[in-house]
Parts: sequence; C-alpha cells; structure tokens
Amino acid sequence: MNKSYHIVTYGCQMNVHESEKLAGILRANGYSEECPTAEEADIVVFNTCCIRENAENHAMGNIGALKKVKRARPQMLIAVGGCMTQQPDAAQRLRKKFPFVDIVFGTHNLDEFGALLARKAAQKKAVVAIPEKEGAICEEDYSYRTSYPNAWVNIMYGCNNFCSYCIVPYVRGRERSRDPESIVREVHDLLDKGYREITLLGQNVNSYSADLGGGMSFPQLLYRICEGQGKFRLRFMTSNPKDFGEELIEAIAELPQVCKLIHLPVQAGSDRILKLMNRRYTAREYLEKLEALRKRVPGCKVTTDIMVGFPTETEEDFEQTLALVRRADFASAFTFVYSRRSGTKAAEMEGQIPEEVQKERIMRLVELVNEKTREKSRAYLGKTTEILVEDFDKKRGLYLGRDEYGRMGYFQSDKDRIGEFVRLKITDASGISLYGEPDGREEHK
Ligand code: 5AD
Ligand code: SF4
Repeated sequence: MNKSYHIVTYGCQMNVHESEKLAGILRANGYSEECPTAEEADIVVFNTCCIRENAENHAMGNIGALKKVKRARPQMLIAVGGCMTQQPDAAQRLRKKFPFVDIVFGTHNLDEFGALLARKAAQKKAVVAIPEKEGAICEEDYSYRTSYPNAWVNIMYGCNNFCSYCIVPYVRGRERSRDPESIVREVHDLLDKGYREITLLGQNVNSYSADLGGGMSFPQLLYRICEGQGKFRLRFMTSNPKDFGEELIEAIAELPQVCKLIHLPVQAGSDRILKLMNRRYTAREYLEKLEALRKRVPGCKVTTDIMVGFPTETEEDFEQTLALVRRADFASAFTFVYSRRSGTKAAEMEGQIPEEVQKERIMRLVELVNEKTREKSRAYLGKTTEILVEDFDKKRGLYLGRDEYGRMGYFQSDKDRIGEFVRLKITDASGISLYGEPDGREEHK
C-alpha cells in the first residue's frame, strides 16, 4: 500500500526549499504520496523556524494538536526538525512536552533524514538526533520540487554575521559555500527541465565562497550561471547591505536575466540602533548604496526587511526608520516586531521595549508601507507588465504569476499557460494584486 506524508513548513524560503528536500527523502523511502491533511497522513514532518517567538508558538500549537490523532492512530509517525530543535536543550524540552513525537532532528542533519527513518523503523523508542556541529555539504539535488516554474537553489548555508537580535548563526552554524560547479550544473539542469525562475539562497550571498578561500565571487557566479543561457529569471536572497558592492551592481546591470528587484534588508533607520544591532553600516551608507544601484541600473527596485521595537529604541529612533522608508522608496517591505531570542546578545540588553509600544510602532510603520504599496499599484494601471505564469486559481478561475518586480498579476485564459511568460495590459490595480489582459505579444515557452 502507498504510504502518505504531510509536511508543515514554518518560516522563510530557505525552509520551504528544505521541505522540498524532505519530500524527496520521504519519496525515496516509501512515502510516495502527499496527503493534504496531517490527520490522515502516515507521517507528519514539522519543519520549524525560531526566528521569532510567534513562529515557535505556532509550531508548538500544531504539534500539540496531533496528540489526539496519535492516540487514535499510534502507527502514524511524527517528526519535528528545523531551526527550533537546533537550539540548546530544545530537543529535550520538546520530548518532555510532546512525548508522542517519534523523530527529532536538527538543521545540520536534514540530509540524513532517511537514515533517521530507518533507525526509527528498527527501534520502538523515539529517535533524537541533534548534531552539535554542521556536517559536510551535500551537493546532490534530491529535492522533490513543487513550485514549477520557480526553483530554489542553495548556494551557501549558515551565517557569520551575528546581528545581535538574530538566532540564525546559532541554529544554522557558520557559513559554508557550495561548490560553484555543482551550483551551475544544478541551475542549468533546472533550466533544461523547463524551470524559468531560479532563486539562489543564502543568508548572506555576498560572502559566497569566502570560506572556500575566494575562488569564484558571488557576482562571478552570476555570470557563470547566465553564460550561454536564453531567457529566464535569476533572483537571489539575501544580500547584506554591508557587503553589497560595485562588482555586484555591475553584474545586475549587465546580466539581463538578473531581476531588477533586489532584496536589501535595512532593519532600522537610526545609526545608534543599527550599531547596537551589529549591522555594520549607517543609514546614510545604506542610502548611498541604493543610489549607486539605481544610478547604474535605472528602474531597479528594492525590497527590504524592517524591525521595530529593538531594545532601547526611542520614539526618535523609530521616526528615523519612518524617514528612511520615505526616502528609500521601497517597492515593498517586510515588517517585523523585534522578538527576544534567548542566546542572542540583544536578549541580554537592558531597555527591552514594552509590547504596547512595539505594537503602536508597527502599526504606524505598516500604514506607511501599505500607503507606498498602493501608490505603486496605481502606477501600473494602463501599463503592460510581463508575468511568469505559475498557477491557476480555481476559485477565481484565473491564471496568476509574478512580474519581475514580484507583483502578482491575474488574467483569464482558455488554455494552460503555466510556465509561460505573458505580457499583461493592466486593467485593475486597486489592491496589491494586478488584473489584466494578455496583449498577445507574449514570448514563447
Ligand atoms: N525579531 C524580529 N525579527 C527578526 N528578524 C531576524 N531576527 C529577528 C528577531 N529576533 C527579521 C529580520 C530579518 C528577517 C529575515 O527576520 O528583519 O531580515
Ligand atoms: Fe541573521 Fe544578520 Fe545573519 Fe541575516 S545576516 S541571518 S539577520 S545574523
């Protein structure tokens, strides 16, 4: 009989891709079908995130909700892995709270999940395996991809930056870069298979290959990937502003495949807060980089991450963040309330900001960001933008896809257009999404 799996993913795109890797391993181990609900699956895997407290709470709630199901169906397996379990003592705490969990694994042994499944099959008691140290990189692509025509490709793992608020360096270890030739081969294979948008993933892509002793820099890697290739979209995330330099700006300008939408997290607009965050740039330096990028790449847009309520943040500091948002003219921004993460430097700082103040600030920031987004939407009206069609929305009966700048566009079509570039003439841009009609001059597959 076919066994089924259900994976619950929390957090970022890195985790979404790692869930594709877990799906690949499950499929190679007899779980040949995806089950739409956790309650009916033969195995449920929670791929957790711990970057903010609410991501952890969310996972804890969902794991707890399976207790009853497990009691009724003890043969079902429950596995919990990812960033949350990689924190000190987290696996023990999890086992204590949820003794019915069968497998606990970390971020450093995701590639070995198949071996953990085999261990569980051979023993009655739970398998708990959280390696302290990062292991060797697996260069093979065994993921089961579910996001055609988009594909994610890891270029490096871990982070060396130790921004004072961030748990990532503790749970994902030091920077380790993949072999450039394996990356290029994986991307070219994906393009040969018909994938049309590739997103390169790393916590800080600008320091790619530093741990390999230089070799191929990140901009050089972009050139190698695009060499001899036709039309496709290349994106990358995340760039740390402190390392965002001229060589990369040049590559963005020269390579037509590189999307002219760069994600460059600023976090805050106050130099005092940026220093406490250990970001190693000032607001002015950040804005100068944006200016250099826009000068060399006219029309290039920028998205960002912003945090409010970092320890000791005053009203004046916060207003500097608002001022920076007004000046930077972001295409969109992801906004977060600072979350105290045990083990980080900021968690020990005095002057933690009360929740009411954090809430009031995030509301003001979100309002400003939304106002900017609506303004940008309106500018689309009557214009033509090219989208890469990625799905069909059954409820609305419309195809959908994103343009180069990440905007979602919807349109009607009688034939399946998934995987195609379609030029849309925008007829409605009242919300965040765009609606339009194909202008008939679209490119082929
Ligand atoms: N609290 C709130 N937001 C955080 N981020 C990282 N750590 C925290 C934290 N402790 C945000 C940053 C980062 C994004 C991925 O998550 O803005 O860029
Ligand atoms: Fe966290 Fe900073 Fe590394 Fe990003 S660069 S993962 S925010 S420590």
